Amino acid sequence: MPEQLQHPEQSEQLQHPEQSEQLQHPEQPEQLQHPEQSEQLQHSEQSEQLQHPVDPRPLGGTGLLASPITLGTSSLGAGTSPGDPEEAAAVEIAQAMLHGPYALVDTSNNYAQGRSETVLGLALAKGGAAEGRSVVTKADQNPETGSFDRNRVRRSFEESCRRLGVDKLGLLHLHDPYSVTFEEAAAPGGAIAGMLELKEEGLVDAIGIAAGTVSLMRQYVATGAFDVLLTHNRFTLVDRSALPLIEDAAERGMGVFNAAPFGGGLLARGSASGATYAYTDSPPELLEWVGQVEGLCSRHGTDLPTAALHFSLRSPLVDSTIVGISSTKRIEQLERARQTEVPPSFWEELDALGTPPSNITD
Ligand SMILES: NC(=O)c1ccc[n+]([C@@H]2O[C@H](COP(=O)([O-])OP(=O)(O)OC[C@H]3O[C@@H](n4cnc5c(N)ncnc54)[C@H](OP(=O)(O)O)[C@@H]3O)[C@@H](O)[C@H]2O)c1
Repeated sequence: MPEQLQHPEQSEQLQHPEQSEQLQHPEQPEQLQHPEQSEQLQHSEQSEQLQHPVDPRPLGGTGLLASPITLGTSSLGAGTSPGDPEEAAAVEIAQAMLHGPYALVDTSNNYAQGRSETVLGLALAKGGAAEGRSVVTKADQNPETGSFDRNRVRRSFEESCRRLGVDKLGLLHLHDPYSVTFEEAAAPGGAIAGMLELKEEGLVDAIGIAAGTVSLMRQYVATGAFDVLLTHNRFTLVDRSALPLIEDAAERGMGVFNAAPFGGGLLARGSASGATYAYTDSPPELLEWVGQVEGLCSRHGTDLPTAALHFSLRSPLVDSTIVGISSTKRIEQLERARQTEVPPSFWEELDALGTPPSNITD
């Protein structure tokens, strides 16, 4: 059975016995993990790209290396059933993620009712992960009862390990602890105690707190218990409300993920699409403001998704930006956008637009 999925340095320890042969040492760059890929990649620089995740950097003090972009899987496997063709297609997307340019793939116990983890587990069993790539997941409340205490955290961890086919995790977040108060989570026998226990027992190497509400997140960060912060939708072109939280986490030496740079849709699809921001309807004033940013983008020779991605990428406080994708073509698009420069004058003019009218209140 596999034990652990995470550190690039630990790729030798990757657990699926059938994977271990496919995972090379850094001094063997010509060898490629995916048998199907080996014919396609003739040039050593191409194999180099596949061997090493792009631009690896430490994720706080976790010992993990992250790329500037982490791929998000909240919709992976949604609507699929075991053995159906849709599941096979989702497994292909997961394989592309695990062999793509970025070090980490973000999932959760509850994404697509567990199907996201299941599909990632199938992809790992089928083709492993390229060197330096690994899956990060999250502990969730009991979906039936809403309970989210120490015992539930442990059950959630066990479910995730079973689906992913691993015994240990490099990083596990406490996810959206909204069904309990902070005081309940912090009490003996609470969710935080469950997370700390898993770490003390060596079942997870690092623990994170992943949620939205900034005031609540500041309480969790202030405990000093967590190694990583994951915030979402609140440090983007149109909402900066997580900045003090991110600064606090960075000062403490925590790793910082900034998720949903497109607000889940609006900043990828544009103001005319009427897409939601942070999973709620976009009010007219927000759409109008985004329309102004689109004008700025075209005057500076860029486009809205590229600018939205770089808003997060350019922050020295953010270790990795988590982008949700539901097709393999997005990986190439993202990598192209990552390598595209947004002119400095764009950011100056963006500042001049003032505070954006976000629809998020906390
Ligand atoms: N509480 C938490 O822990 C939390 C909360 C929110 C998010 N997250 C994590 O962060 C991830 C990202 O959040 P999100 O998916 O809600 O929001 P997002 O990354 O802001 O937006 C995802 C949307 O952008 C589109 N997109 C991606 N790349 C694109 C590109 N290059 N050009 C144009 N459109 C592009 C995707 O389209 P397609 O679907 O068509 O590919 C998808 O509709 C999630 O999957 C999850 O892993 C965690």
